[in-house]
Amino acid sequence: MHEVVVVGMSVEDPADRDKLARLPGVHLAFLQLADPPLTRVLTDLADGGATSVVLAGYSGRGEPPARSWLRRVAAHWLREYAGPAPELLLTHELLLTADPSELAELVDQATRQPRPVTGSESPLTSPAWEEVPRHRHQVLVCRGPRCAARGAGETAAALTIELMRHRLGDDDVLVTQTGCQFPCNQAPVVSVQPDDVWYGGVDAAAIAEIVTEHLVGGVPVEERRLPR
Ligand code: FES
Repeated sequence: MHEVVVVGMSVEDPADRDKLARLPGVHLAFLQLADPPLTRVLTDLADGGATSVVLAGYSGRGEPPARSWLRRVAAHWLREYAGPAPELLLTHELLLTADPSELAELVDQATRQPRPVTGSESPLTSPAWEEVPRHRHQVLVCRGPRCAARGAGETAAALTIELMRHRLGDDDVLVTQTGCQFPCNQAPVVSVQPDDVWYGGVDAAAIAEIVTEHLVGGVPVEERRLPR
């Protein structure tokens, strides 16, 4: 008998925690920005004597990260776990639906013929990730609960498109998704470092202005700036 772990993949999936927690007979874990992390859930299951665990990646909102990340993290845990590890299996497909009525059936289908995680998969590290990246600005996009509920997903998507439109890469503007940055009443919140400029109510129109005037032109958008 398999234990089934549904793993929220993207930064937005923690917002679906309550929906996922209602799925019958599954454990819940997250790959990023929320507890419990997958590694802790796997350790708890292994310590509790589980012999077989199936991982089903979930992403009900927006773009999920590559499924390979789930495989890498699972393989990392397999290599590191000190005791006798359970058989670890991964579904072929991600669960890509925001519809709660479809989820239980999808979990059932996806977990019927999973493939094994062997521990020989790619590591969590890469030479490309060794150094702190050079960048002119770092834009911190709040994906905390209040900002997420008030459109931070659309804000982040608009930022990606606008940076591409201006041909700005990671060397120019490093975008980082964060948890709550605290001025939740001003959601969605975006801050620009090292300038220490904070913006509130950042919708797609605001993003266009912030990118053009601040990140390209070097001048903060005063009328959208939060007081410091
Ligand atoms: S949730 Fe974004 S500032 Fe608190």
